Amino acid sequence: MYIIKPLSKTKKEIVVPADKSISHRAIILSSLCEGETCIKPFLESEDASATLECMRKLGIVAKSSGDSLTITGAGMYLKPKETPVTLLAGESGTTMRILSGLLSCQKFPITFEAAPSLVKRPMGRVVLPLQQMGARISGTAGKAKITHEDVIYPPLHIKPAVGINGGRFRLNVSSAQVKSSLMLASLYAKTQTVISEPYKSRDHTERMLKLFGAKIKIKGTTVTCKPVKKLISPKKLFVPGDFSSAAFFIVLGLILKNSKIVIKNVNINPTRCGLLQVLRRMGGKIKIKNKKNAYESYADIVVESSTLKAVKVEPEEIPSMIDEVPILCVASAFAEGKTEIRGVRELRIKETDRVWSMVHNLSEAGIDIYNARFDNDEEIVIKGSKNIRPASFVSSFDHRIAMSMIIFGMALNKESEIDDITCINKSFPQFLSLVKSLHRCG
Ligand code: S3P
Repeated sequence: MYIIKPLSKTKKEIVVPADKSISHRAIILSSLCEGETCIKPFLESEDASATLECMRKLGIVAKSSGDSLTITGAGMYLKPKETPVTLLAGESGTTMRILSGLLSCQKFPITFEAAPSLVKRPMGRVVLPLQQMGARISGTAGKAKITHEDVIYPPLHIKPAVGINGGRFRLNVSSAQVKSSLMLASLYAKTQTVISEPYKSRDHTERMLKLFGAKIKIKGTTVTCKPVKKLISPKKLFVPGDFSSAAFFIVLGLILKNSKIVIKNVNINPTRCGLLQVLRRMGGKIKIKNKKNAYESYADIVVESSTLKAVKVEPEEIPSMIDEVPILCVASAFAEGKTEIRGVRELRIKETDRVWSMVHNLSEAGIDIYNARFDNDEEIVIKGSKNIRPASFVSSFDHRIAMSMIIFGMALNKESEIDDITCINKSFPQFLSLVKSLHRCG
């Protein structure tokens, strides 16, 4: 049990760890080059480590020194010491989904296993399109959760393909994991691959593949990828701070009185920062300073105490803030009026059912919150309140639920508690020490 202590105000400059999504991709693409790539800073978290351990088992060499990690890649065709290979994705859905595309194109058989929580997460969304490309990948049958494709679960079994075909793919859901998986497979295809999604999901794979010399064309929500013989390392790869981690402190700075938080060097890729637009619409005082343009742009984000008002969030905004919906629910609880967040069905199949978790936890604190059907999807409706009561929260072993509820509890005037917080190590192991440091200077 973790006791959440109230924080009356804060004025602080902080740094959040390297972006998790970019770190996964940095490890994977560096592994596919010949020669060394230095990734800095490297994200020391459970999910990034899961991808790194998979790549190590596939024959790459990685050495860490200080906050950097140097990878000596093996080229497009990986050379594990022993085959067949058994890999473990741990709790990391991104590791399993993105790597499946790459593994389907290798020349040896692979069993891809998952930790118990990931075994419950659907893989059909990657397995089926990869099979269409000629991949010999299969999973374990399970129950459909939110779409008809999602009936395939880990472990996955992959055999060397006879040939990988390009073609046209229209995804039913906007998912960067699925898109990235197909993009990695497309590097090995005989012809070009064209992938379209309903709304644009995060484009880190597109940006990094271009940086590594691949031929990628983007038009609206469609990406066209050409096969490559090899990828060329940029040698040094700076990974900016994770916007999804910064989001917790952005909201904290807005909802606390007399406060100002500066978060240094945060990735401000527009396909990730949808939350910023929504919070600004709510009246949030947010400034972007010292912007730097690289393969991914980054900047300092400055937030100040604000009076928030309710807004409507439309389904097309959700992909650019898919991981920030729980912390947006927290901001909405402190806003004046009824916030409606539409198009949230995908949240049902994240580390936990995040729709249920937020409705449950905020209801415990006396917030009027419910979920309802919206078109073919779902919405969360939250009525902001001035009478919030401290409560006992459950993380459901989901890092983003745990951190959202800790931020919520910090803005109350009495102590709350949350059951399990070890899940925070998945993306943000420094979170609790940062919270402590805010209390010290509060
Ligand atoms: C991720 C994509 C998102 C996100 C996840 C990381 C990625 O998932 O929720 O935390 O790195 O590509 P979906 O693409 O399945 O929405």
